[in-house]
Amino acid sequence: IPIERIRNFSIIAHVDHGKSTLADRLLEFTGAIKSGQNQILDKLQVERERGITVKAQTASLLYKYNGEDYLLNLIDTPGHVDFSNEVSRSLSACQGVILLVDANDGVQAQTVANFYLAFGNDLVIIPVLNKIDLKNAEPERVCNQLQTLFDINPNDVLKISAKLGLGIDDVLKRIVTNLPSPVADKNANFRGLLFDSSYDRYRGALSLIYVQDGSISIGDNIASFHSKKEYEVKTLSLLRPDEVPVDKLVAGQIGLLGCNMRSSKEAHIGDTIYHKNTSVEPLSGFHPSKPMVFAGIYPMDQSQHVNIRSAIEKLTLNDSAVSVEVDTSPALGQGWRLGFLGLLHLEVFTQRLQQEYSMDPIITAPSVTYKIKLKPTKQNMKDDSNVILINNPANFPDHLQIEECFEPMIIGTIITPDKYLGQIISLCMERRGVQKSANNIDNERVILQYELPLCEVVLDFHDALKTISSGYASFDYEDNGYQSSNLVKLAILLNGKLIDELSGIAHITKAQTIGRRMVLKLKEMIPRQLIHIAIQATVNGKVVARENIKPFRKDVTAKLYGGDVTRRMKLLAQQAAGKKKMRMIANISLPRETFIDVLKK
Ligand code: GTP
Repeated sequence: IPIERIRNFSIIAHVDHGKSTLADRLLEFTGAIKSGQNQILDKLQVERERGITVKAQTASLLYKYNGEDYLLNLIDTPGHVDFSNEVSRSLSACQGVILLVDANDGVQAQTVANFYLAFGNDLVIIPVLNKIDLKNAEPERVCNQLQTLFDINPNDVLKISAKLGLGIDDVLKRIVTNLPSPVADKNANFRGLLFDSSYDRYRGALSLIYVQDGSISIGDNIASFHSKKEYEVKTLSLLRPDEVPVDKLVAGQIGLLGCNMRSSKEAHIGDTIYHKNTSVEPLSGFHPSKPMVFAGIYPMDQSQHVNIRSAIEKLTLNDSAVSVEVDTSPALGQGWRLGFLGLLHLEVFTQRLQQEYSMDPIITAPSVTYKIKLKPTKQNMKDDSNVILINNPANFPDHLQIEECFEPMIIGTIITPDKYLGQIISLCMERRGVQKSANNIDNERVILQYELPLCEVVLDFHDALKTISSGYASFDYEDNGYQSSNLVKLAILLNGKLIDELSGIAHITKAQTIGRRMVLKLKEMIPRQLIHIAIQATVNGKVVARENIKPFRKDVTAKLYGGDVTRRMKLLAQQAAGKKKMRMIANISLPRETFIDVLKK
C-alpha cells in the first residue's frame, strides 16, 4: 500500500468514554477481528480488572474506500492522568486523532488535557460523540461545550454508539478523508522512531517502531542513535491486532521489531533506529518521562530478592516510565527505590508484580522529589553540591544545614457540576492550592484551574474529589516546576530511636496533624510488650505528638509466699533477661510485620 493511502491515528478520550469499545468496533468493521470479541486491545489482566488502559497498544487495519485499500494504523493510548506521557509518545507517530467524548458525561478534565496535547502536536482532530444510544445523552449540550472550549464547529461532530456499532463507518471515512498521509520518504535512508517497547519471554525486548523513512528488512544491520549499539533485525511484524510476521516494513508503517535486545536499558523510548554505516539525522524524540512519585520496594524476606529483581527488570521493559535505583534500609534490608508517574501508576505496577509474577513485596509510603538548597560550606561551594534532590525522607538533611526547600508543583484542571463547587474549593485550599481560574463551560459545569503542591495530590486527592462529587468531578494535572516551601522532616521515634522507614517530609503547617495521626496509628498496630514503648513524632528535634504503649507486667513472684530468697532472685533475673530481649526488639528493630502493617495503610 502506497504512503498516500496510509493513515496513522489515535483515539484520545477521558477514562470510560468508550475508547476501547470504539477500537474494538473499528477492528471489527475492517475485519481484523470477528464480531463479539471485546476489549481486544486491553491485553493486560490489570487493565481488564480495572477497566482502564495502562499500556498503549497498536493495531493496523485495512479499509476499502472508493475501491481502494487503505492502511489505517490505530495507536491505542491510555486515558488516565498518570499516563499522559504515553499519550504524547504515541501521538508523535500520528497525523490525527479521534477526540472521543461521552454524550452523557460531556467534556471532562482529560478531554481537555488530551485535546491540548493533540492540538500542540499540530494534529488533525476528529470530534466524535459516543454513547448517543443512552437515554440521557445530551449531544447538543456536549457539542456546545466543544464549541465553547475548543472552538469546534458542531456540524463537524460525528455522533456514534460504539457499543451498538452505530456510525462506525462514518468514523472510518472521516479518517481516510480528513487525515493527511504521513510525510515519509521511501527512498531516503532508513529512519525509525522507537515509541514503545514490550518484553517477550522468548524473544527479549520487542520495540514498536514507526518507519519515518526508507525501509527495514529482516537480516538488516541496524544501530541505535542513543546507545550506538548495533543489532541484526531478527523479526518484523504488523499488528492486526495479532502479530503477522513480515519480511519488510516501509516508510509510513508501524510495526514490531525484534533484534535481540536483551535488557530493558537498551530499548530507549524516543530513540532513532537507522541502518548501520548510514548517516542520518535523529528524529526529534520525546521528552523522557519524569517520575513524580517514589516508593521503596522491599522483598518480604531476602530469599525473594533475586526473583523480585528479575520481575522488576521485566516490568520496566514494558513500562519504561518507571525509574529504578537500588536502596537499602536498616529495617527492611536490600530493596529498590522506584519512581512512578503518579499513584495509580504505582498501584498498577505493584498489582502487575503480584498478578504476573506472584510477587508480594513491601511498599513504603510514597514521596515526591524535593529540592533542597544547603547553607554554603567550603566544600559544597567548591563542588557546586549545595543544591540536592531528595525523594527519600531518610536523606533529608538536618534543619540547621538547610537554607531553603523547594517542592514540585502542578497545575490541576478540575471539571465539576457547579453544585459541588464549594466543597471542591475547600478541598483545594486544605491541600494548599491557589486558584488560577474558574470558568463556566455551560450553565451547570465549571472548569477550575489550581496550582497545587504535587505531594498534596499524589496520595488521595483524586479519591477525595470523587467522593465529594459523587464521582462527577474529573481531574487532570501537569507539571509546573518547583516552588519555595517551608518543609520539615517529620521523624518517627520509637523509644527515642529514629525509625527512618516510618518518617516523612511534610509542610510545616501540616506536620503536627500528620504526626499525631501516624502516632495513633502506630499505637494501634504495635502489640503490647513487656517493656514500655514510647512513640513520638518530632519536627526539628521538638516532639509534636506522643503516645505510650504500656507494658504487660507479669509479676512472676506473686505466687511465691515469702520463703526462698534465692529462688525469688532467680525468677526476677529470668524476667529481666526476658525484658532485655524484648527491649532489643523494640529499641533496635521491630518485628518486620509491624513495619509492613504500618506501611500498608
Ligand atoms: P479506558 O480504557 O479506561 O480509558 O476506558 P475506555 O475509554 O476504553 O472505555 P471502554 O471502551 O472500556 O468503555 C467504558 C464503558 O462504556 C463500558 O462499560 C462500555 O461498555 C461502555 N460504552 C462504550 N461505548 C458505549 C456506547 O456507545 N453506548 C453505551 N451505552 N455504552 C458504551
